[in-house]
Order: sequence, then structure tokens, then C-alpha cells
Amino acid sequence: MKGRFSWWPDWIRRKNAYARTNSLQMDVDRFNAVCAGVGLPNIHQKSTFKFKDVADGAARFLGVSPSGEKPYARIYTRLGNPNTEYLEKVLFQLECDHIIYNALSADEKTPTIASLVSASGMAAITTVILGFVRPGDCIIVGNVYGCTDSFMRFLQNRFGVDVVFVDATNPENIRLVMQQHPNTVAVFIETPDNPTLQLCDISAISAITEPEEVMLIVDNTFCSPYLQQPFRLGADVVVHSLTKYVNGHSASIAGAALGPYEFFSKEVYPVYKDLGPTPSPFESWLNSLTIQEMGVRMEHQCKTAQKLAEFLEQHPGVSRVWYPGLQSHPQHALCKKQMRHGGAVISFELKGGYQAGVNLMNYFARPDTPMELAVSLGSVISYIEHPASMTHAVVPEEDRLKRGITDSLVRLSVGVEGFSVLRDALDKGIQLAG
Ligand SMILES: Cc1ncc(COP(=O)(O)O)c(C=O)c1O
Repeated sequence: MKGRFSWWPDWIRRKNAYARTNSLQMDVDRFNAVCAGVGLPNIHQKSTFKFKDVADGAARFLGVSPSGEKPYARIYTRLGNPNTEYLEKVLFQLECDHIIYNALSADEKTPTIASLVSASGMAAITTVILGFVRPGDCIIVGNVYGCTDSFMRFLQNRFGVDVVFVDATNPENIRLVMQQHPNTVAVFIETPDNPTLQLCDISAISAITEPEEVMLIVDNTFCSPYLQQPFRLGADVVVHSLTKYVNGHSASIAGAALGPYEFFSKEVYPVYKDLGPTPSPFESWLNSLTIQEMGVRMEHQCKTAQKLAEFLEQHPGVSRVWYPGLQSHPQHALCKKQMRHGGAVISFELKGGYQAGVNLMNYFARPDTPMELAVSLGSVISYIEHPASMTHAVVPEEDRLKRGITDSLVRLSVGVEGFSVLRDALDKGIQLAG
């Protein structure tokens, strides 16, 4: 909606000068070096920080940070903490290394992008949305995670936000809704989506949203910055559940949001401060530790996933495989354009239908198999789940089938176990499942 965001013109100038690039990925060695990082602080398990004197306290409440630390990160942990600040910096570099470099080279005096870590992925998503939304605004939403979906419905029912759900895999659907809803202020997408792993074309959607001053928000959880860097493709805001690949061990819940500095400092941060979606210092420290080998983990996971997807595609008990890295995936070309690899999540359908899905789950519930029957993703441990009997059991059958979530669809999050171990277990499990 034109004229809605005071920060928009300066952001678009910076986005086109510094954020959009022809190279769509960060160099792998540089990525791994940033992940490894230097200077991981000790754990500041504190709620409050002492000031040097009254002038120091007064200055800090005005957002002045004498040693260059994040404003407000040395007052009270709800507002910021050195451990969270460290993780924010690492994520900032991973998503925006090129933006920092380009903006500094152009002698830009104020930051271009802000990074905010929160206590969960949902805390990041809700804080960003509450940072701008007003009653009567329209938000266009693709196929998104269940709690994002229900938060959008909550905004619609309680606060009069006009929420329109679309199939965002076709950018023209977004153009059409924007034409019908001139009150559109944001588009929220996930790519690849869950659990059918269809892709949204971030550059194509951005070409539609940007001229209309519509914010494009991309949930990058399924990829992490290792596989996909949405700012390079024209996204305005990027959100993550760090619970998945950044933690990588299913040992923590956390989230992050990155976006235009002016928008975040004026609109998003005040909501963060008042709602208190702040992570504990220990969780931020833990995620700063686990992010150190994220690139190495993900490289291994994606390579294994690619080989497993190729194996499953040939398996007599499998009728269909959804994996963006396969040539048979309808958007394989787009995958090659916007992702480093096909990802570490595979979905596949069993010939034996619903009961085969249940049987396969029960096989992997056994303690002598190398996976866990669990619903999360991104861990070093492989997780397998059956959406029709588990995550999507409450979705009415007709809607579920319309979204491609058939009775026999199985979702597999590939961990770091070796290919041959997972292949043999899947082979045996599928044969037993019938
Ligand atoms: C794509 C996506 N976004 C957001 C979330 C929410 O993250 P969290 O559980 O950390 O709040 C999830 C959780 O599964 C997710 O898969």
C-alpha cells in the first residue's frame, strides 16, 4: 500500500544498491568461517547489568552504546543481552554479509539491516507482524506452518485484519489478490513449503510486491542461510525458527527476524521490548555454539538427502517423491536458481496407502532403527512422520488432499547418519510396511 511505510523509500534504495546480487549464495568457505566465528562470550546469565555511573545509565536508556555494543543490550535482559547480541551478529553476517560489505564500501552512515533473536520462531514471526499490522490491512499468506496460519486467523478474527490465503507457488496468484485488495501491506511465504516441498519464486514475487510498497516476508526455516539467502532475491524481511538447523540438535527453541534497520528500530524493537519474547542468555549461548558447524552439518545432510531421494524414487514400494533436488520435481529449475542444494527434508508417498504410512511409523518407533518417530526437523538425528495420522490429522480431509497431503505421504528430515544406514533402514521399513 503506497505511502504506508515511512522507511520504505530509503530501504528500496539500499535494497537495490546493496542487498540484491547476481551471486545468490555466500561463498562456502566464508560461510563456514562466519559460523565458526570468534569471540563467543561467556554466558551472561543475568537479568540486569550495572551502570558505571548515572551518566552511563542515562545514555544507555537513550540507546547510546559507548563501546559499539547493541543499544539496550547492557540494561536488562528483556531488552537485550550480550549472548543474544552475539548470535544476532552471526546471523546478520550469514544472511547479510554482502549487504554489510556493500553498505560500508558506500560509506553508509547508519546500518541497513537489523537482526533480532527471540525465544522461538513463532515469537520472531508474531513480533514482526505486530510491528506493522493495523486493523483493515491485508496480509497475503502462502502455505505456511500451522501456528503461523493460526496466528494470521487470530489477527483476522480478533483485530479485523484482512488475511487472504493463496497458493504462492504461482506468483500470479499474489498479483491477482493484490489487485483485488489494494489494502495489502505484506506477503508472507515459506519456501520450500511443508510438507509437500513446493517452492515459491522469491525474485518473481518481489518484482510484484516491491512497486506496490508491499513487504515481502520470507520464512527461511527450511533452508537456513546456508541454502537460501532471501535478501539477495529481493525479500524485505527474513524470519527463522532457529530451533531447526541453527540449533541442529533439537536442544533449544529459538527464532530470529532480520529486516530493514529503520523499520526494526522504530517499529519492531518497541514491540519486542514490550511483549518480552526474549530468549534466555543460555539459549542464545547454546545456539551460538551449535551454529558453529551448521554449514558442515547441512552440507552432509543435503548430500545424504539427495542420494536418499534418488533411492526412494526407484523403490518399488514408493509411488512418488517430493524433493526439490530431484530432476522430477516440477520446480527443480527454480531450486537450482535460488537454493544451494535441494535441502534435507524429503516427502514421499507409499504405494500401500494410509496403513502403510502407519506401519512405517511404527517400524521407526522401534529403538533398533536409526531414526526417531518425531515431528521436528533440522536435527543431526533423522526424524520421520506421517502427516495424515499426525501433524495434519485435524485438517479436514478435503483440504488436506487439496494441499497434496495424501493418506500415504511421509515426511523425512535427514540427519547426519550415513547414507547407507538410512537407505537400508528405509528399505527394510518400506518392505515391512506393505
Ligand atoms: C517453517 C516454520 N516456521 C516457524 C516455525 C515455528 O518455530 P518455533 O517452533 O521455533 O516457534 C516452525 C516450527 O516447526 C516452522 O517449521
